[in-house]
This record gives sequence, C-alpha cells and structure tokens, in this order.
Amino acid sequence: MAEAVHLAYLAAAVLFIVGIMRLRQPATARSGNLVAAAGMLLALAVTATQISYGNMPFILPAVAVGAAVGAGAGRRVRMTAMPQMVALFNGMGGGAAGLVAFGEIWRGLAQGGALPLPALVTGLVTVLIGGVSLSGSLLAFAKLQEIMTGRPILFAGQSALNALLLAAGLAAGVDVAATSGHGALLVLLAAVALALGVGVVLPVGGADMPVIISLLNALTGLAASATGFVLANALLIVAGALVGASGTILTLLMARAMNRSLANVLFAGVGSVRAGGTGAAEGSVHPTNAEDVATLLAYAQRVVIVPGYGLAVARAQQEAKDLMVALEARGVDVKFGIHPVAGRMPGHMNVLLAEADVPYDRLYEMERINPEFERTDVALVVGANDVTNPAARTRPDSPIYGMPILDVDRARTVVVLKRSMAPGFAGIDNELYLRDNCRMLFGDAKASLAALLQALKEVDG
Ligand code: TAP
Repeated sequence: MAEAVHLAYLAAAVLFIVGIMRLRQPATARSGNLVAAAGMLLALAVTATQISYGNMPFILPAVAVGAAVGAGAGRRVRMTAMPQMVALFNGMGGGAAGLVAFGEIWRGLAQGGALPLPALVTGLVTVLIGGVSLSGSLLAFAKLQEIMTGRPILFAGQSALNALLLAAGLAAGVDVAATSGHGALLVLLAAVALALGVGVVLPVGGADMPVIISLLNALTGLAASATGFVLANALLIVAGALVGASGTILTLLMARAMNRSLANVLFAGVGSVRAGGTGAAEGSVHPTNAEDVATLLAYAQRVVIVPGYGLAVARAQQEAKDLMVALEARGVDVKFGIHPVAGRMPGHMNVLLAEADVPYDRLYEMERINPEFERTDVALVVGANDVTNPAARTRPDSPIYGMPILDVDRARTVVVLKRSMAPGFAGIDNELYLRDNCRMLFGDAKASLAALLQALKEVDG
C-alpha cells in the first residue's frame, strides 16, 4: 500500500512538472493547466485514502466549501481582478501551511516534545513564513481590491521595526526548538509572523504589487515544502518546491522587466507621491478623430498595435483583432507590441489577445518590437500608458526611470486611445502625449476601435 501511495505521488509530481513545462507556450498552456490540475486531483484522491474515517466529518465539508468557493471565484473573476484573487488564494495556502505546522508542533509540545529536532525546526520556519505569507497576502488583496489605499504606506523606523519583529520571531523560535517547550512562545512566533507580513507589504504599492504577490507566492511554496518535511510527505515537498522556485523566478523576471532590484521594490516606497519629474514637459495635446486615424492607418505600410491595461478594462481585444484583420486585408503589415508588465498581471495581454484568437506570430515581445518602431508608420497605443512613457528613458528623477519601455515615440506617428489625460498605474504624467508626432483619440477603447473600423470601411481602397 505504502509503495502504491509513493508511486501515485511520484506520478502527481511528474504531472505538475509536465503541466508547468506546457505553460511556457501559449499554444500548449491550456492543456498544461489541465495536466497540472489532473496531478492535483490524483494527489488529493490518494491523500484521501490516508485519512482516518473519524476525521472525515471535518475534512469533507471543508473540501466541499473550498472547492465551491474556488470554482465560483475562478468562473466569475474578471481578468483585471486576477492579481487580487491570486493574492487571496496564495494567502490561504501560506496560512494553511503555517497552521498545519503550528498544530503539529503544538501537539508535539503537549506530548513532551514528540517532534524530532529537524522536523521541529522546519515546522517553526513554516509558522514564520506561513504567517508572513497569510497576512502579507491579505493586505495585498485589500490594497488591490481598493478596500484601502493602494499607495505605499511609509513611516519613520519602518525597516527597523520589521527587523525587530524578525529578530523577536527568530528568538522565540530558537527558544521553542532549544527547550521543546513554551507553547506561549510558539503563539508569539505566529503573532510576530503575522505582524511582519503586514510590515513588509505596507511600504509596497502601486506598480510594485505584482512583484510582492509573486514573492509571497514563492514564500507560500517554501512554507508548503517545509510542511512536507514536518509531515514526512514527499509530494508536498516537491509541490512546494515547484511553487517556491517558479515564484522566485517570476519575481526576479518582473523586477528585471521594471529595471529594479528586489530590495528597491521592497523598501523604496515607489508610487508614494504623484510625480512627473522636475521640469514641466513642453508641448500641447493634439486631439484627433476616428476618420483621420482611419485614413492614417489605411495608407500606412507598417502599424504596431500596443495594448495596455485600458484594453483589458474596455474588453476591446476582439475589436483590436478585427482592426488587425481589416488592415491586413488592405495590405498593411500589422504587429502587436507586448510589454512584459503591460496590464496588471504577467502575460495579461497575451491571454487577452489569445482570447480573441490573434495569431501568436503577430505578437512581438518588447526586445523584438523596439527596433521596428523607427520604420513604423503608426504606433496605435490602446489603453497603455506607463509602458510607453519616455520619462523612463529621459528623466532620472521619474519613479519609473530605468524601466524598459516600448519606444512608440520613435514611430512616425503615435495614436493613443484612452479616455482622458489621466495617468496610469504609476500615477505619473506621460510626456508622450505632448509630442508633435502624437495624436490623442479620446474615448473608451472598445468604442474608439469600433469607430475606427467603421471609418476604415469608408476610406477608399
Ligand atoms: P497603465 O499605465 O495603468 O495605463 C492604463 C491606461 O488605460 C490609463 O492611463 C487609462 O487612461 C487607460 N484606460 C483605462 N480604461 C480605459 C478604457 N476603458 N478605454 C481606454 N483607455 C482606458 O497601463 P499599462 O501601460 O498597461 O502599464 C501597466 C502598469 O501597471 C505599469 O505601471 C506596470 O508596472 C503596472 N502593473 C503591471 C502588472 C503586470 S505584472 N502586468 C501588474 C500590476 C501593475 P484613461 O483613464 O484616461 O482612460
């Protein structure tokens, strides 16, 4: 029986890894998700066979409630609200890992130190990491859901307080490990971990939230993996390590895409002030209309469409695709330029455009599309803002200085589709809108694209 369980766990771990590998390509991502979900189903089924009947009345209702909430939320969540849902679910994972470890240690202490030292130490680390992940993720959820301000909250001595909390947590943990006693210190460790999670996430805000969510996700993976050691469960160790590793890689990739170090993301409080850099940008806004833009597009040779968060808000992906098809029918070369942090979650634009069946070969990552802008006739920016802001290249005092951007300003003409002159996520003005080669088509992106399509039909072939 034990061998069969181990084999099934091994099979589940292989399914997780194959699933993740398939997530690397848009064409195989959907099936990758299913493969990984099948692995999780197998893991749950096998684990269920290990549970004593006496515990079933507690476990089955909990599984039913969790499954119902998860399925309901997964179905209903809007793509733009995905980051906060990930934060919430991630916090639950971290909290569950921390609680399991807490329960095991508590039981051990009550029985006079029944846990072997290595399991006790990993358990204590799990309580610390799981607590940080739970409270940090809940705070991240509250910020993104706009239950509270999304801006960084900074106060004097914040880093020192966090360091003090960490030191107190470690001291409590060392005492519990050394004496195999003092349940009160275990409770203190858990409380300190929860406070530390709040302390770490408070000063992070604005565009840095996805990075911190990914970091918390990595922490949850580590906590789950450590719980695997406490429970001597190999699958939990493997699954947790996979989450920990992928979360860490994603965190570093996102920080690199914004040209920031992780320390800068965690401690700099970027986005705390609304800033446009010193020195007012010069120039004036040039509003335009759908007919003029349609003419511009119809006689262009090369057009690059740059989608951003506004495309997701307006749900205008189908219209964007229709415009691509209409322009291609006129012989125009159309590409989509995708910035790695456009939208509100990694791969946001890829997912939206895949929904509208835009062929993958029309999607160009930032490094590939940037050299093309010099010979592009029209860069059509659809609801993107920060990822096109030239201040990232030109203004050292700008909060986004150094972030690689899509060089749309180098196209012959830039047309920006947005509703107003309002800033984007980083809360800073965009000097692109005042450039001589930039035209503003104000309005909801879906309506503007529909108007463009209509106007295009009326342009002579
Ligand atoms: P943003 O800079 O946030 O700009 C989006 C623009 O869309 C806004 O200026 C808004 O202007 C416009 N908009 C909103 N609703 C619209 C609608 N219905 N129709 C037309 N336009 C609409 O977006 P971005 O350029 O995609 O940059 C993403 C930002 O989010 C970056 O700062 C990034 O660091 C951050 N971020 C990224 C992620 C990831 S991992 N992708 C996650 C969280 C945050 P109006 O209000 O004037 O319409």
